[in-house]
Amino acid sequence: MSELFSYDVVAQDPNTHARAGVFHTAHGDVQTPLFMPVGTKGTVKGILPQTLEQIGAQVVLANTYHLEMRPSSERICELGGLHEFMQWHKPILTDSGGFQVFSHGEFFKLSDEGVRFRAVDYDGRWVSWTPEDNMAIAQRLGSDICMQLDQCPGYPATRAFVERAVELSSMWAERCWKAHTRPDQALFGIVQGGMHLDLRLRSLHHLEEVGNFPGYGIGGYSVGEDHETMFETLEPLVSEHMPSHKPRYLMGVGNPTTLVRAVGCGVDMFDCVLPTRTARMGTAFSSEGRMNLKNARFSADGTPLDHACDCPVCTSGYTRAYLNHLVRQKEILGGILLSTHNLYYLLELMRRARQAILDGRYAQFMADWMASPAAQDF
Ligand code: GUN
Ligand code: ZN
Repeated sequence: MSELFSYDVVAQDPNTHARAGVFHTAHGDVQTPLFMPVGTKGTVKGILPQTLEQIGAQVVLANTYHLEMRPSSERICELGGLHEFMQWHKPILTDSGGFQVFSHGEFFKLSDEGVRFRAVDYDGRWVSWTPEDNMAIAQRLGSDICMQLDQCPGYPATRAFVERAVELSSMWAERCWKAHTRPDQALFGIVQGGMHLDLRLRSLHHLEEVGNFPGYGIGGYSVGEDHETMFETLEPLVSEHMPSHKPRYLMGVGNPTTLVRAVGCGVDMFDCVLPTRTARMGTAFSSEGRMNLKNARFSADGTPLDHACDCPVCTSGYTRAYLNHLVRQKEILGGILLSTHNLYYLLELMRRARQAILDGRYAQFMADWMASPAAQDF
C-alpha cells in the first residue's frame, strides 16, 4: 500500500454524481477531473515536456510493455528512472500492457500464469509475462501510479469469455498486490466485466477482497461498443457501486462528449491517444466539432484554428491556411501544432468541468455542452 498516495474529494456536485478532487503523489498534487496525455514510449509524440507543462498537463501516461521491449526497464532504472529519462518531473502513470497484448491478434496466449505473446511490433520473439514481472517492471520505471496486469475482452464477446477475463484479472490483481512493494508508487486495480453489470460488480468485489487498492481503473470500454451501451453499465457501476473516497479512472476514453458525461457519473481520470493520433492525421478538435485541416476550404483561411481557444497555437498567429499547408505537405510541425491544440482542448475541458463542479453547476455545464455544436460532432 502506498503511503505517499492519497485522494481527497474536495467538492461534490449537488445535482449529478460529478466530484472534484485532489490526489497527492510523490511528484506533486493532481486536480481531478483530469485528462492524461498518452506518452506510450516515454514521449507524448512531438510535444516537449515544457509544452505539456505550459498547457497544464498534470499526469503523463506511459506503457510498461513498450518501455520494457525498448529500451528496457533495467536501462531506464540505471539512468535514474522514467521521470529523469523523459525529463517529465510531474506524476507518471504506467499502464500494464495487458491491453497492448491484445493488439497481437492470434499471436498471444493467456494462462493463469500470465500472458505469452509474440512481440510483433519489435523483434518478433515470444515473450512471457507474469503479474510479478509486470510489477517488477513498473517498480523499476518508478511511475507514481501503476496498473495491475489485466485481461481486456473485446466487444462483442460471449458472456463466458468475459467471465473468464474477470476471473483471470482478479487472480492477477491478487498476485500484483502481493508483488507490489514500492512505497512511493500507487497500484490501481482494474475493474473488468464487459457490458454486464453483474460481472463488473463481481470484478469490483474481488478487488475489494484482494486489498485496499488506492484507486481503480475501469477497463474494457471503448472497445467497439456504442456510447449508450457503455453508459448502461458504466453509470450504475460508478455512481452507485464504486467507493466514493477512491479515484476512478476510465481507461482509453478521450471523446470530449464521453468525458463530459462520464464526469457526470463520477469518473475522475481519463487517458486516450485520440487527441494526438487524430492531430497527426490532420484533424483538430474545435468549438464547432471536428475540423479536418486537409480540407481545401482552409487553404486561404487567414483566421486562427479555433477562435474560442486560448491554447499557444490559437493565440500565436498561426492561420488555418498555414496549418492546411503543413498538413498537406506532411510537415512534422503540423502534427506538433495540432497535437498541442487538441491536448489543450481536453485539458481545458476538464479544468472547466472542475470549476463547474466547484461552483455546484455541473448539470448546467453538461446541458450546455450537449447543446453545443461541438457535442453534435463527437
Ligand atoms: N486501456 C484501455 N482499456 C484498457 C483495459 O481494459 N486494460 C488496460 N490495462 N489498459 C486499458
Ligand atoms: Zn487552440
